[in-house]
Amino acid sequence: MAPHRARTLAAVLIVASGALVTGTADAAPQPHHLIPHPAKITQHTGVTFTLSPSSKIQLTTQKARPAAALLAETLRPSTGFALPITTGVTGGGIVLTTAADPKLGPEGYKLDVTPKQVVIRANSAAGHFNGIATLRQLLPAKAEAKTGQPGPWQVSGTSITDTPRYRHRGAMLDVSRHFFTTDQVKRYIDQLAMYKINYFHLHLSDDQGWRLEIKSWPELTKIGGSTEVGGRTGALFYTQEQYKDLVAHARSRGITVIPEFDMPGHTNAAQASYAELNCDGQKRPLYTGTGVGFSSLCIDKDITYRFVEDVVREVSAITPGPYLHIGGDEAHSTPDADYRTFMDRVLPIVRKHGKTTIGWHEFIKTTEDTEVIPQFWGTTSTNADVAAAARRGNEVLMSPANRIYLDMKYDKDTKLGLNWAGYVEVKDAYGWNPGAYLDGVTEKNVRGVEAPLWTETIRTSADIEYMAFPRLPVVAELGWAPASVHDWERFAPRLGAQAPRWKVMGINYHPSTQVPWTN
Ligand code: ACM
Repeated sequence: MAPHRARTLAAVLIVASGALVTGTADAAPQPHHLIPHPAKITQHTGVTFTLSPSSKIQLTTQKARPAAALLAETLRPSTGFALPITTGVTGGGIVLTTAADPKLGPEGYKLDVTPKQVVIRANSAAGHFNGIATLRQLLPAKAEAKTGQPGPWQVSGTSITDTPRYRHRGAMLDVSRHFFTTDQVKRYIDQLAMYKINYFHLHLSDDQGWRLEIKSWPELTKIGGSTEVGGRTGALFYTQEQYKDLVAHARSRGITVIPEFDMPGHTNAAQASYAELNCDGQKRPLYTGTGVGFSSLCIDKDITYRFVEDVVREVSAITPGPYLHIGGDEAHSTPDADYRTFMDRVLPIVRKHGKTTIGWHEFIKTTEDTEVIPQFWGTTSTNADVAAAARRGNEVLMSPANRIYLDMKYDKDTKLGLNWAGYVEVKDAYGWNPGAYLDGVTEKNVRGVEAPLWTETIRTSADIEYMAFPRLPVVAELGWAPASVHDWERFAPRLGAQAPRWKVMGINYHPSTQVPWTN
């Protein structure tokens, strides 16, 4: 028995270290298994490109350099190849070049596989990032490994012309209910980039925690950033330098960060930090539970708006993206008239600091400004205020909680998550049309989709991944793929074919019985 047992242990250890990856992780994937599905794809049977030790990543446009860097960073550890990034096309390898086709727009790309080259053509840095995301999925899954793997590194002959259905494909992470380190957040950002997610929304303040250093209001993090749900204590916040590093990391993956400071409700952490933010001048106790709707900034005090302006000014100065999210949800302790007064004062502050407001949909009842963006998070198919805004010309971001809230349990046996919006199995997350979901909000009104992940019950990267996979790729599919390919029977095997990739990357996922998983 003893020698046999030793052999078994050795095999397990090799697999666990990632040094030996077998099965479908080795094979060139089927191009038609891409997620999200490209707008147009043609396969060329008998044509294969093979990445070799002498392959270069060749640029004819500096716009492609950030995407080239991401590709090299991904492929060098697994292939062991040098993959130098060079300017000008001198031979075989991967070529990133400009596109003559204006129809590709700001995010589109073309990808052509020949025996000698993979050529990606795009008009923009974003287009090159999207082309790279596709190329990564055309390579064997083991290309994503962090340790050296044996080749061959083949890509099947394919021509793709691709543009997104919607210009906004987002994911949100709540770092307030539970705090996540910059390394944990970067790990999630890296996962988003694989699926052409282009916006990352950080929920930076709530009742339980204030998570970003504000230099003019230092107690926000000193007190308000000192704990979280469940009562853990520590310096649970990002310095401005750490936030800038996160923003730069996202940018190096083609992702724009949208910071959120939730107000006038969901503000207990701020009210615990500064007595003057409370109408009675008394600091609130820190809160480590999971209730909502009990806090409100003091609407009648001028200092409230000095506070908001200081936060908006400091955050705007270190946020290159054009958007600031002001929350505005579940302000159950702010009377309606006060809520309107608050928004009337706050929306111009955001504009003054050069940002466009996004808010949870409740805020849209207070303004007729067509530049601001309501994010629908309800569970109904009607919302009069959002429909009226769409009629006026506002773009709507779709996050229906009973469809794409990643914190909803898959089913009654899911250990993590909540179920106030119901159970959301993979098929539920997929089975709706963002462009025909809300009455009066049609395809042309929809800016895109965002998958929020609230973290009352989520504490680790493994927890994040279990809730996001496979539903995050589902949201990416809804946001990017043409409506014409929407079909569960065809989608489910494509989704299942992603599993070898997740295994190579150590991504924890929900092995839903609805999906025919590739081993
Ligand atoms: C929300 O879920 N309260 C936006």
